[in-house]
Amino acid sequence: MNVATESEPDRLVYSAEELLASDKYKEPLIANEVRCHGGFLDDGLYLSPRTLHRAPAIDAWKRQLARQGHELIDLSRDLTPPQYPNVAQAKLLLNHGVREPIVRALTIISIVEGFGAMIRDVRVPRLEDLFVGGVEGTALAHLRGGLFEAHARDESGYRDEGGHKQMWEAARDEALENPKIPGDVLMSIMGRRRRRQKTGPVFPEIEPKLERMLAFMSQVMVIEIFAEGTFEWGIELLSDPEVSANPKSASGMVSYIQQDEKPHVEYLRTALSEARARTIRTVDGKEIAGKVVIDEFLHRIIHAMTRERQRDQRDDLRENLIEAMKVAKNPKALLEEFDSLDEAWRPPAEIGFVSTRSPAAA
Ligand SMILES: [Fe+2]
Ligand SMILES: [Fe+2]
Repeated sequence: MNVATESEPDRLVYSAEELLASDKYKEPLIANEVRCHGGFLDDGLYLSPRTLHRAPAIDAWKRQLARQGHELIDLSRDLTPPQYPNVAQAKLLLNHGVREPIVRALTIISIVEGFGAMIRDVRVPRLEDLFVGGVEGTALAHLRGGLFEAHARDESGYRDEGGHKQMWEAARDEALENPKIPGDVLMSIMGRRRRRQKTGPVFPEIEPKLERMLAFMSQVMVIEIFAEGTFEWGIELLSDPEVSANPKSASGMVSYIQQDEKPHVEYLRTALSEARARTIRTVDGKEIAGKVVIDEFLHRIIHAMTRERQRDQRDDLRENLIEAMKVAKNPKALLEEFDSLDEAWRPPAEIGFVSTRSPAAA
């Protein structure tokens, strides 16, 4: 069973152990004295963790989907809201000695990465019974058997190895020389999460566990895709020697995280595309097209997140901005300059996924 995947690129069935297996690295990745996941080959090339079989497996499931004539879910890059503060605004603050808001923004990113471990708690129902034709040899069939667990370990670390949470902390601490971390960061983002309302099931005819799983995966996929904007922001900001004490290692760390995210986006879009291509059995003995369900979730999540993400990032920053700016020589002028660098952005009218169940669609 342990034949190298390279020799059988079309293999569709893997054990959890295989999906969690890493390559043999020459050098481990050490960040801020913490041993992190992944590592380097002889030529200094960084290899993401747990991709020895996971990467070729995802490729094989994708090729199978294409062979069957189904499309892979794709989100337009135009949908990604810009990062707030933008790079110019962040540099302006740092150049004026106003560091707290940027320390805060980077700390929030590290905490949110750590939240990614929640994916291992998603309850997976018996998918082979719920999809017409079953799920054998698909990404869907491997969610519980390795894919969710690999994702969780990548985000929050595993045993004595750090993951993305620790890697973002290291990037922050190297660039900004071990800054003081505000004590209320976690509390403030948790408070906002609690204020958000939960809505009832959108598809009462579907097994509730299946609805929750597909909705959660859709949400995580959109977060992962939008995060690409955060990585570009982090690399541009932390690689600038004017504001970063260790431009090379701090931005390098963010680029390793960026590379690690690829399998997350890819397995989620593959599994959701598989669900979208199938027919779902309902609890009342009928059937519903997977496309209707997945497109509904994607429509709702993208609609909400293109609005909330900007609002959240603004709230996070502006709550303490005026206070933090007091360390500058002329806080009022600084605030004016900061706001003048703002970029207006509106979510595109076209999301690309159709809602058939929202009140507006009726
Ligand atoms: Fe991550
Ligand atoms: Fe991720």
